[in-house]
Amino acid sequence: MTSFADPNKEIEDLREQINRHNYLYHVLDAPEIPDVEYDRMVRRLQELESQHPELITPDSPTQRVGAAPISHFASVKHRIPMLSLDNAFTDDEMSAFHKRVRERLEIEDVDAAIEYMAEPKLDGAAVSLLYEHGVLIQGATRGDGTTGEDITHNVRTIGSIPLKLFGSGYPELLEVRGEVFMPRKGFESLNESARARGDKTFVNPRNAAAGSLRQLDPRLTAERPLDFYAYAIGFTSAAVGERHSETLDLLGKWGFATCPERRLVQGLEGCLEYYADIGSRRDSLDYDIDGVVYKVDRFDFQRELGFVARAPRWAIAHKFPAQEEMTVIRDVEFQVGRTGALTPVARLEPVFVGGVTVSNATLHNMDELARKDVRIGDTVIVRRAGDVIPEVVSVIAAKRPDGAVPVAMPRECPVCGSSVARAEGEAVARCTGGLYCPAQRAEALKHFVSRRAMDIEGFGGKLVEQLVSLDMVRTPADLYCLQREKLLELERMGEKSVDNLLEAIEASKQTTLQRFIFAIGIREVGEATAAAIADYFGSLDAIRSASEEQLQMVPDVGPIVASHIHSFFAEQHNLDVIANLRSSGVKWQESDPAVDRAQTEGHLAGKTFVLTGTLSGMTRDEAKDRIRARGGKVTGSVSKATNFLVAGEKAGSKLQKAEKLGLTILSEEELLDLLA
Ligand code: IVH
Repeated sequence: MTSFADPNKEIEDLREQINRHNYLYHVLDAPEIPDVEYDRMVRRLQELESQHPELITPDSPTQRVGAAPISHFASVKHRIPMLSLDNAFTDDEMSAFHKRVRERLEIEDVDAAIEYMAEPKLDGAAVSLLYEHGVLIQGATRGDGTTGEDITHNVRTIGSIPLKLFGSGYPELLEVRGEVFMPRKGFESLNESARARGDKTFVNPRNAAAGSLRQLDPRLTAERPLDFYAYAIGFTSAAVGERHSETLDLLGKWGFATCPERRLVQGLEGCLEYYADIGSRRDSLDYDIDGVVYKVDRFDFQRELGFVARAPRWAIAHKFPAQEEMTVIRDVEFQVGRTGALTPVARLEPVFVGGVTVSNATLHNMDELARKDVRIGDTVIVRRAGDVIPEVVSVIAAKRPDGAVPVAMPRECPVCGSSVARAEGEAVARCTGGLYCPAQRAEALKHFVSRRAMDIEGFGGKLVEQLVSLDMVRTPADLYCLQREKLLELERMGEKSVDNLLEAIEASKQTTLQRFIFAIGIREVGEATAAAIADYFGSLDAIRSASEEQLQMVPDVGPIVASHIHSFFAEQHNLDVIANLRSSGVKWQESDPAVDRAQTEGHLAGKTFVLTGTLSGMTRDEAKDRIRARGGKVTGSVSKATNFLVAGEKAGSKLQKAEKLGLTILSEEELLDLLA
């Protein structure tokens, strides 16, 4: 490290380096050093500044978050008004704009090129930043265009806004204008943490950005993931370039981020091409945009064109169809998904949003519905972005009519009438109809025929869907009654494939209890759990008649899984499907597990192991194989039914739990002794 005799020198050197790395990180998105190294430099600078407070300057990088909360926003009069833009919604309106520009400039040649800068219209908040001798001295909101609010303390916290300009050649006084916005990712995580805390969430990134700028305490703003793109200059003490494009390039040199999507385009055709291109990529951008702004690039042309009322004649905003609109909820119904999840869906007064007419919007789940307090009759904001399913974003509380009706979760599945259950801690409620519910049929059947379940070779997802949509198969039992002639009528089913299929169906009848339990698709009963249950109880009847407590005796079965199993067998139609399968000839070997256990030769028979931590002499899989080879069982979680916990290096919570339950804990050596 360089050593400095003069703290002033070291401070200056640190500031320069920190500013450069800040720029690389926030503006260019290309950091050259790890965060810890950056933090170390900032800490060193803080240390030096606290030893020499007389050397602290407002443009020091330590001063971004340093400001104290303010008591109110002072007003700022803009030296040059912050204008708005005229809008165009159609190609015709764009063509009219281009024509006006050409006529005013007296460019008669239709083919003569007019160069426009096309830039995304960023959906955030406009701000003005004033630099004096290259140092940021003021930040202001747009306000009504003439007078805004002083938000200097907040703009300083935004990493991509330079506190001090780079390079040289900037005017003594320079007002930079641009958009503060919140990238989508940051917006999502901000809302996620607000939800986790039970706080109110922001409706969209624009509101979040604007709200974050209007904080009295800059520490709050500093925590918000805000970004800034410069798109214009306001007041300056000297000219900055002769073209808008040149200005943006200069701003880039001085340390500002400018939107990388901007392009110089030629004439109307260039504008429309750009609009179509960026429109098709709109949803994959990191930030929200609501249209394109076209600006005549040459400043001499801009001066000639001038302004009307509150907007320039040399620029226009070509808007995308709105992604959010207001409408009224007529009703709320529940849809049953392929996994049985019930989704509340709002039936709307049809509304044109995101380029299509929308009459249904999702409310996600009951928690979301309750959080937004959506009622039938409410006026709401509906959002449809790209291909995303339209959703109800929020209720406009002021418009709630008397007698708006709260929404209740149905007790019965609207599709099949089975009872609806909501597991503790889960946001989603589900139909318990499983195999029986038509909404869940196709998924349940695909699972039933799959390789690890009944293993019916040649039974693909497409075929299942065909059979379900033709109503040839309703329950798995129907698979065993499929007729050759009917199958031959299906798409892509020749003699050979039908015969193979029927053979595979026939062969699948001889199965195992484990496969059967897995195949019938009880919620949260995967292969391992199915095997454990089959092993423990030995017969389907024993499983069916087991109480929830008895089910929990099975290793790996906790209260939730036990309740799923229990409620599955409580539904008569599930029992009917099972009875039909058995009468179609589906069969397996049943056993009396108590006798089996006694007869098993392995000396670890009937013993259940859980492995945790890192083993040094073998891998976990090897250990599992060796335990199993001696008749033992290995499960994933510790319960009363566990006999041994094998604790390797860095054993964690499982070890603690085992200790609490008073289980026998084995070291790796002790396990080796047992395996010997
Ligand atoms: S130029 C005189 N460029 O749109 C022209 N504005 O109505 C001044 N906006 O709230 C604006 N992206 O914040 C310009 N690339 C862009 C923009 C943009 C978004 C916003 C601006 C203002 C509104 C103008």
